[in-house]
Amino acid sequence: MAGCCEPQGYDLIFSSGQAERDAARYRKSGLTWAPRRTVELFNDGTFGGESVLEIGGGIGDLQVELLRAGMARAMSVELSVSYEAAAGRLLRQAGLAGRSVRLTGDFAQRPELAQPADVVVLHSVVCCYADAGRLLSAAADRARKHLVLSYPRETWWLRAWAPIQNIYPRLRRSDWRFYIHSEAAILAAIEHAGLRRIHIEHTRIDHLAVFSRTE
Ligand SMILES: C[S@@+](CC[C@H](N)C(=O)[O-])C[C@H]1O[C@@H](n2cnc3c(N)ncnc32)[C@H](O)[C@@H]1O
Repeated sequence: MAGCCEPQGYDLIFSSGQAERDAARYRKSGLTWAPRRTVELFNDGTFGGESVLEIGGGIGDLQVELLRAGMARAMSVELSVSYEAAAGRLLRQAGLAGRSVRLTGDFAQRPELAQPADVVVLHSVVCCYADAGRLLSAAADRARKHLVLSYPRETWWLRAWAPIQNIYPRLRRSDWRFYIHSEAAILAAIEHAGLRRIHIEHTRIDHLAVFSRTE
């Protein structure tokens, strides 16, 4: 249940139906681009650690794959409660439920929900949240070693697409919106928390960046 000040209606968009479709997609074709690259970057040593905290991780497929790749513990804070049934099933089927903790809530409003972790991951989450600075400051604060992040590029055509994408949540009376936040503001929030970018790559739509703690 969302608190009084948390955005409402994310579970109308990130619904149990969407969770089942995501789980079917994962069973059929594995991780999507940014989570898949995250496991590859963990495996090739670009970043490392024993524990991962994923914010807005949906069905938790990346958490499953990072545990399989050798991480010891995973934690998730997800705003939509609708993902929990599918996520719990995935973890049990993989035999990994004992190494994972799942919590629901708005991480930006309630960062105390999560313990610090070696690695904090947010894939396609900043674009789902109005106050990117608050979300990223809280995430960076919980990252002992690394922050791994994907977010949309500031292209004219994504900016043109955003208002069209946002018709559907308006009709459903959900607070969820698709945002393209300024890259400069994203970097400033993370660097202010003592992390520096050590890796960046792109698709036509998204950036994927890895940050490491320097202090
Ligand atoms: C587009 S989905 C991405 C899911 C997954 N990370 C992936 O890459 O497939 C965005 C997710 O972020 C969650 N989310 C957005 N803002 C959040 C916040 N402040 N705290 C926790 N979860 C959040 C949403 O509920 C949704 O499940």
